[in-house]
Amino acid sequence: MMKKISLTGIKPTGDLHIGNFFGAIKPALELAKEYDARYFIADYHALNSMKNPKELNAVIRKVAAGWLASGLDPEKVIFYRQSSIPEVFELTTMIMAFTSKGLMNRAHAYKAAVQENNQKGDDPDAGINMGLFTYPVLMAADIILFDSDVVPVGQDQVQHIEMAQDIAQSVNANYGKPVLKVPSAAVQESVAVVPGLDGRKMSKSYGNVIPLFAPENILQKTIMRMVTNSQSVEEPKDPDTSQIFLLYKLFADNEEQSAFAARFRAGGMGWGDAKEELFRVVNCKLSPIRERFDSIIADIPALDKILEQGAAKARPIAAATVKRFRKAAGID
Ligand code: ADP
Ligand code: TRP
Repeated sequence: MMKKISLTGIKPTGDLHIGNFFGAIKPALELAKEYDARYFIADYHALNSMKNPKELNAVIRKVAAGWLASGLDPEKVIFYRQSSIPEVFELTTMIMAFTSKGLMNRAHAYKAAVQENNQKGDDPDAGINMGLFTYPVLMAADIILFDSDVVPVGQDQVQHIEMAQDIAQSVNANYGKPVLKVPSAAVQESVAVVPGLDGRKMSKSYGNVIPLFAPENILQKTIMRMVTNSQSVEEPKDPDTSQIFLLYKLFADNEEQSAFAARFRAGGMGWGDAKEELFRVVNCKLSPIRERFDSIIADIPALDKILEQGAAKARPIAAATVKRFRKAAGID
């Protein structure tokens, strides 16, 4: 039986951190076991917010290298850059004709930007480019182009998938036949929120991240900066309310976790010692990934070749969808 198709879009907007690894990369890579999995770097989506060419260029490579280092096997899945697939843009134009402006007006990201402008007393559309306004159309094209059955996303992206469904259904209804596959969202409810250095959700925007590929000394310094309370060394501590322990659980096996929890509860372990132990397990797990990352990023031409080979596998699939649509539309 043919496997169902899953598609994961990765917006390259910053250096990867541990929250991205456990919340996005690891669960997405698991999909390759069950699905015919496709992964792509959404570099034209990133262009909406990233206007510095050097920075964007570097982050595209770093994010691609990060996924490969984390275990993405380009032989087994299709891995490419959005910008290498001209059919994405052709399909975007075609589905624009089936996308009502009202639908875009209701998009959360656009509405939030307008609301912020209104609150500041600015023009409602100040600073909003057409890339942001039409973001959901480009995303629908990404998805529909590859006959995707499921798109694993976080809650914040569900509306975009619903818009892609709407658009595909309008096309099919107009031509009275299934020209485009209607995708579904697979919402990852169970993915735990990884806490950052200050106990809030780990996020670039909070400046509280533990980077995934930092050299050992920086990793250590970062972990030693974690915010703790003023409990003394002697006092027993509650592992379950400490972000040190919550992070530890992501990296340590059961035996290590029980032993560490017992040290918390017994008292006599200071926060400095607890952070050293956290660093030890984090470093032990991340070292091999970091070494792979360093060697991939040291050879950009080889990395680009992997992405180009991925694009070569992706393009015939994309071309078939566009051809089908053009034929149905009378533009063949
Ligand atoms: P950031 O919040 O650092 O800007 P992004 O919004 O770029 O991160 O997130 C990219 C992916 O990583 C998303 O799928 C998101 O759900 C996941 N992710 C980011 N931070 C965390 C976290 N602290 N815990 C779990 N998942 C996370
Ligand atoms: N909008 C997604 C995000 O911000 C990235 C993305 C672009 C995407 N195109 C996609 C995700 C297609 C899934 C499918 O994370």
